[in-house]
Parts: sequence; structure tokens; C-alpha cells
Amino acid sequence: MGTALSRMAAKDGFFEIVALGKAQLDITNEDQIQQALAAHLPDYVVNCATYDYVDLAEQNQALCYGVNTDAVEKLARVCGDFSIPMFHLSTDYVFDGHYASGYTEEDEVAPLGVYGDSKWQGEERLRQLLPRHIILRVSWLFSEQGDNFVLRTLETARKQKVMEAVSDRRGCPTAASDVARVILAMLKQIHNGADAWGTYHYCGAEIINRYDFCKEILIAAGSYESFEVEKLVPISGKDYLTEALRPNTSVLTCRKLLSVFGIRQRPWRHELQWLMRIMYKHKD
Ligand SMILES: NC(=O)c1ccc[n+]([C@@H]2O[C@H](COP(=O)([O-])OP(=O)(O)OC[C@H]3O[C@@H](n4cnc5c(N)ncnc54)[C@H](OP(=O)(O)O)[C@@H]3O)[C@@H](O)[C@H]2O)c1
Repeated sequence: MGTALSRMAAKDGFFEIVALGKAQLDITNEDQIQQALAAHLPDYVVNCATYDYVDLAEQNQALCYGVNTDAVEKLARVCGDFSIPMFHLSTDYVFDGHYASGYTEEDEVAPLGVYGDSKWQGEERLRQLLPRHIILRVSWLFSEQGDNFVLRTLETARKQKVMEAVSDRRGCPTAASDVARVILAMLKQIHNGADAWGTYHYCGAEIINRYDFCKEILIAAGSYESFEVEKLVPISGKDYLTEALRPNTSVLTCRKLLSVFGIRQRPWRHELQWLMRIMYKHKD
């Protein structure tokens, strides 16, 4: 997300971005946060850093809470000292996924695992410490880099003749570049005086299950590459055993973002096609 945002901001030109990776700023280190903010005195801090190894988090709880909860508290505290508002990203995993018709920002959270709980606790620390904050919960991110469902699907399809995908888990895929667009649009309005702090949801338009999304990914990439895979088998989420439980239907309702900021959801299908064009252009 950090890379997508830096790229989009550079192209857009409204904000100058100082992009700091973990090597330049470890957000678990309050002194480093202090030094970074003193050195750059930004108008806003956008926190894209996270510990998001959902399964490993069950074993590495200290690390997970350290980055997703305690470090968010540190960022919020130092931002408060410098009077800098903070934009923070969170996740649909704060919900348990039992509510099929979509979660609003007012719906009660019920994380199923350590990762979701650590993100929820991080949100709460931010709310308590820094009134001028935005929390944007997003879902099912994909981009041309990092560890995400689209890239994992392509990797598996290159190696295996038969692939399995969960058909009873539904959500809304979301391009990281699309979230970058939303973050910049929100920040511009805030910068121009909109008093719209609080929690918002954003995801790509159109609900789909993992199995059908897998098919869409292979169709989109199939125009550029031939895959080893011959058969895609639908399975149930309860047969896909993982360390951490995952929400079944993690659909985020984005009406608040539309009514407060006038920002509309974009169809993820278009973003997926665009991603394929970018990825395969760079492969040549
Ligand atoms: N990916 C999804 O599907 C998804 C879904 C819903 C919500 N979100 C949320 O979206 C946001 C962005 O996620 P993402 O997919 O961009 O995550 P990502 O690809 O895993 O990137 C997270 C970045 O945070 C860095 N980081 C970890 N610990 C750090 C620390 N102590 N100090 C500074 N940087 C640190 C990581 O660096 P290293 O790699 O070097 O550790 C990595 O570059 C997160 O808030 C996440 O919860 C993601």
C-alpha cells in the first residue's frame, strides 16, 4: 500500500510524499518516530505499515500486537505532540464475517483471530489519543507486489495442474492503486478544510467469492500467459485449514465515504485488467 500511495501521490503532484520504509523508520520505536516527524514536519502521517501474516500472528502475538496496536499508539502519541493528523489503514478482519449483507462503520466488531484483534486494538488506541484521525478499513488488497491473492493465484497456476479455491467465502477485491486514489482524495478534502475525521470503509465494487475471483484472475492473465493449471476445484472454507479463522463474508459497505466525501467505489474488474496490463508490460 505504501508503494502504491507513493507512486500515485508523485503522479498526482498535490502532496509531496516522504516515503519511509522499515529501514528508515521502525514504527515500534518511539524515538525514531519522534526524529522522523521532527526532521520532516509533515502535514499528515499516513500509516501503511502493518504486521499482516494472519496465520503466523496466532503464534507471534507479541510481534503482531507490537506493530498493529502498540506502534499505532506510539504514532498517535507523537503525532499528537506535533499536532499532526494521522491517516491509518485497517481491515475487514475486525469483523467475524457472519453478517452477509455488508458491514457499516457502526457495526460491532468481532475479530476471529490475533491479526484482526490487533488491528481493532490499534484503531481504538488511535481513537482515544488523536481526535484528528482517519481510519480507512479496506479488504482483499491486490497489487503487482507483495504477498496477495492475485499473485499467489498466478504462482500456483504456473506450477499445478489442479488448484483448489474456496467458494463460500465472499468479499470485495480492492486494488492498492484504487485505495491510493481514495486516500489522496480524502486528504485533499481534509486539507481544504473538510472536518470529516473518523472511520470509513472502502473496497472495490462487486462482491465475489474466492473461487470465482480465482477464475477471473486466470482469465485476465490468460490473455498474456499460458498456465500449467487445467482444473480449478471449488472447496468449502471449512475444508481449507489454516492456523487462523477467516471471516466468511467480509463485505464493507462504503456509503459513508460516498455521503461524506463523495467518493465512489470503482469496479475491481477494471483495476484487475489494468494490473495485468502493467505487470505483463514490465515482464517483456
Ligand atoms: N493485504 C490485504 O489484503 C489487506 C486487507 C485488508 C486490510 N489491509 C490493511 O492495509 C494496510 C496495508 O497493507 P499491505 O497489504 O500494504 O501490507 P504489506 O504489503 O504487508 O506491507 C506492510 C509493510 O509494513 C512494513 N512494516 C512491518 N513492520 C514494520 C515496522 N515495525 N516499522 C515500519 N514498517 C513496518 C513491512 O515491512 P517488511 O515487509 O520489511 O516487514 C511492509 O513493507 C494494512 O493496514 C493492512 O492491515 C490489507
